[in-house]
Amino acid sequence: MIQKRVPIVFNHHLAGASHALGFECAEIAREAKPGTFVMMREARPRGYLLSRPFSIGSVDDDTVGIYYDTVGTATRAFAELDQGDELDVFGPLGTSFTLETWARVNILVAGGIGIAPFPFLAVELAKHRPQARTVVLAGFRSAELAVLEDLFGEIDVEYKLATDDGSRGYHGVVTELLEREVGDAAACADEAGGFAQATRSVAVYACGPEPMLKRVAAIAAERDVSCELSLEQRMACGVGACLVCACATRAPDGGTEYKMVCKDGPIFNARDVVFE
Ligand code: FES
Repeated sequence: MIQKRVPIVFNHHLAGASHALGFECAEIAREAKPGTFVMMREARPRGYLLSRPFSIGSVDDDTVGIYYDTVGTATRAFAELDQGDELDVFGPLGTSFTLETWARVNILVAGGIGIAPFPFLAVELAKHRPQARTVVLAGFRSAELAVLEDLFGEIDVEYKLATDDGSRGYHGVVTELLEREVGDAAACADEAGGFAQATRSVAVYACGPEPMLKRVAAIAAERDVSCELSLEQRMACGVGACLVCACATRAPDGGTEYKMVCKDGPIFNARDVVFE
């Protein structure tokens, strides 16, 4: 884990409350894996003290990119920063997504700014298994809030949009799009030896609000599809010391076991997460 004061390379608005920020840190760039995160605050914080967690969204040489929404004091302050301003950053932290060797289709399901870790994951999936198809299913409240469509186009990843108000793409929630996509992907792969076998060629990765993750986990379980979730929780320390980020998981004996999202996650197998 690296702790460092780093300069901002870019920081710009995307759409709605969403922004993209890049900072220069060769050491974090080298160690980052898709799904891991950094804790970050301004070098001179204004109106807050604790660092905030952000998924690593991209790595480009020595530049680490994150995507964030302005939702509180810290992130609103981040939005005012310029190139050359400094951040105190530590990371990379947490567990990473599994890059499956057997998957023919990777489905990345995002709700709102939950899309943040997926550019990095999509790039690494393409390197790891170039013959697999990767599709991003992105859910937003409306078309003007949708982000990163062009970026996924540049890295040759399909991007399917779902909007709650039907202003563009599929009219409905992104999990409905997932149900269709899992069915289509499995049907395409069916020649391999039956539908059950085919669903096992699909790997689902999801990040977004908890109700969305709960539904994604249920769909994956119904279809017997491999699924990993990136959980979002309030964090204070980021390293397993303060217990703020506890989440309920299934223990091997069938009971409930509490784990720390920052240290044991943020990536969990969907089957292991206990939702309210
Ligand atoms: Fe402190 Fe996870 S944020 S234990």
